[in-house]
Amino acid sequence: MAAAAASSAKRALLPWARDAHHALARALQGCGGGGLRGALQMAGSRWSLLQCRWRSSLPQLDSADRSDEESGGEIDWDNLGFGLTPTDYMYVMRCSLEDGVFSRGELSRYGNIELSPSSGVINYGQGLFEGLKAYRTANQQGYMLFRPEENARRMQHGAERMCMPSPSVEQFVHAVKQTVLANRRWVPPQGKGALYIRPLLIGSGPILGLAPAPEYMFLIYAAPVGTYFKEGLAPINLVVEDSLHRAMPGGTGGVKTITNYAPVLKAQMDAKSKGFTDVLYLDAVHKTYLEEASSCNLFIVKDGVVATPATVGTILPGITRKSVIELARDRGYQVEERLVSIDDLIGADEVFCTGTAVVVAPVSSVTYQGHRYEFRTGQDTLSQTLHTTLTSIQMGLAEDKKGWTVAID
Ligand code: COI
Repeated sequence: MAAAAASSAKRALLPWARDAHHALARALQGCGGGGLRGALQMAGSRWSLLQCRWRSSLPQLDSADRSDEESGGEIDWDNLGFGLTPTDYMYVMRCSLEDGVFSRGELSRYGNIELSPSSGVINYGQGLFEGLKAYRTANQQGYMLFRPEENARRMQHGAERMCMPSPSVEQFVHAVKQTVLANRRWVPPQGKGALYIRPLLIGSGPILGLAPAPEYMFLIYAAPVGTYFKEGLAPINLVVEDSLHRAMPGGTGGVKTITNYAPVLKAQMDAKSKGFTDVLYLDAVHKTYLEEASSCNLFIVKDGVVATPATVGTILPGITRKSVIELARDRGYQVEERLVSIDDLIGADEVFCTGTAVVVAPVSSVTYQGHRYEFRTGQDTLSQTLHTTLTSIQMGLAEDKKGWTVAID
C-alpha cells in the first residue's frame, strides 16, 4: 500500500520533484511494517521539499542542449595553467535549514551571485568546496569524470562537521554532469588539460549571532585548466613551515572547508617569494610529523616502501591520495598510512604530492630549517608510473578495472 501511494504521488509530480519522490521511495523501502504514515514520518523533512519555497531569479534553461557555442573560443589550449577562465554556465540549488534537503537545481549563466552581507559564509566561514575534473575522451566526443561520488560523500561528511545540509550523492553527480554538458565547449582537447569543476556549499542565509545559517546554496562552476604549478610537469621544490600550522587536532583539517585555505596564504606567499613552489606543514602538537602541502597530500618512498600521513582528522582525505594508494598496492608496493616524521622525509629516496588539481607531482627538493634535501625524480620513479597510470584511467586511455570513471554522453 505504501508503495502504491508513492507511485501515484510520483505520477502527480512535476519532473523537478521526481528526486523528492525517489527520496520518499527510499524511505518507504526502509520503513519495514510502519505503513505509509510511518514512512512519511521517516521521509519527514525530505517530503517537505515538495513544498519548495524557492523561486529562483536565475534564468531557466532547456536541459537538452546548453552549450550554445561550438568551441572554446580563442583559448590557447597549449598554455592552460590553473587560472580562472570563466565559462558559460553554473549550476545552483538551494535549501532552507527548516526543510533540510536540497530541491530542484538549475543551470544559469555563469555570473555573480547575490548574498546578504550577513550571510553565514561571509560572516562565519560556513562553507565547503570540492574539486574534480572532466576529461575529453580519446574520440573527443564524450567526457569522463573521475570518482565524482567520492567528492559527493566528502562534501556530505564536511557538511556534517560544519552544520550544513548537503545534496544527496545523486543530486551532486547529476549537477556535475549538467555543468560539464552545459560547458562542454570548454573541456580541453585530450592531452591538453581538463575541465576543473568546483562545487561549493555555502551558508547563504542571513545570520547575526553565531549559529548555522538559515539557508544554503550549492553551486558548481567550472574552468578549463592545465597543470597546477607553474613548473608544469617538472619536479617541484617545497619548504617545511615550522611555525604556522594548517590544522590542529579537533579542528577542520580533515574536511574541505573554505576556512582551511586562507590561513595558509601567508606561508605560501613567503615560500613563493623565496622561490619555493609550495609549503609542507607540520603537525601543530609535536611540530615533527608531516601533514600535507597547501593544496595536496604527501607521499614518501624509501627502499621500495611507500608511506603517507594517515588521515586522522588534521589531513584532507584526498581522492587522488586514496586512488594512488590503491594503484601502488596493485603494483605490489607496501603502502603505509602512518605518522611520517621529518626524519622519514629527509631520509626518503623519492617524494611526491597528490591532489585533484596537482595530480601526481614529483618533489625534487625539500628545504627544512635552511637545509635542502634532494630526491629522485624522472624516469623509473614511482611518481612517474603513478602519474601515467592514473591519468590514463582518467582519460579513458587505459582500461578502468575499478569502475572509477563515470562517462557523460
Ligand atoms: C584540488 O586539488 O582540487 C583542490 O581543491 C586544491 C585547491 C587549493 C586548488
